[in-house]
Amino acid sequence: MNIVEPSIDEYLNKTLPVGDALLREMQRYGESCEFPMVGPQVGRLLYVLARSIGATRVLELGSGFGYSAMWFARALGANGRIVLTERSKENAKQARGYFQRARLLDHVQIEVGNALDIIGQLPGLFDVIFNDVDKPQYPCILDLARPKLRLGGLFISDNMLWHGTVLDKSRKADVRGVKELTRALLAAPDFVTTILPVRDGVAVALKIA
Ligand SMILES: C[S@@+](CC[C@H](N)C(=O)[O-])C[C@H]1O[C@@H](n2cnc3c(N)ncnc32)[C@H](O)[C@@H]1O
Repeated sequence: MNIVEPSIDEYLNKTLPVGDALLREMQRYGESCEFPMVGPQVGRLLYVLARSIGATRVLELGSGFGYSAMWFARALGANGRIVLTERSKENAKQARGYFQRARLLDHVQIEVGNALDIIGQLPGLFDVIFNDVDKPQYPCILDLARPKLRLGGLFISDNMLWHGTVLDKSRKADVRGVKELTRALLAAPDFVTTILPVRDGVAVALKIA
């Protein structure tokens, strides 16, 4: 199911800037191998959200070859730092290459392994935590992210409408994962959450307590 009416989606893709030359190259690469990445509409949303709270520390859970992380990196400014987590060595190596070309290697830390294990080992608090891991893992993410996010920080999750399957009664682990995280976020007294129907649905949760 299309979340956004295709002609509107096409309009947005034509109208919104798609980023600088490197971001466009990364987009073309991702599209050429059908890599599941956030794309320019969500990328721009991540950029706006990060800048709007003056974020300087971002943690990504599930970074792929670095496309969404590059949008964040563009938003963070001179003192910014982003931690990428990715279980595939090959994807992580590609991400490193792109950040090297962007001359931003000093601003990134690339961790290879399971983001769910890595998150607890990272020191300090983050301004933004972006969740894009496998959907069956979504239910445990909030409890792992909560203690690592500063007050006033944003917990952002991609694919929260999961191609419309949230409407199904499906017991599949990915659908259940997305719905369980949605329920947990909306029930959490320490977050105020909305879901934007951008691309495949993006949940934005502000930590208020
Ligand atoms: C949907 S892709 C998105 C990549 C990136 N966020 C983007 O939009 O450019 C998800 C990535 O997360 C990785 N991944 C999924 N679950 C993970 C986990 N538990 N720990 C680390 N990486 C994970 C996958 O290997 C994949 O590269």
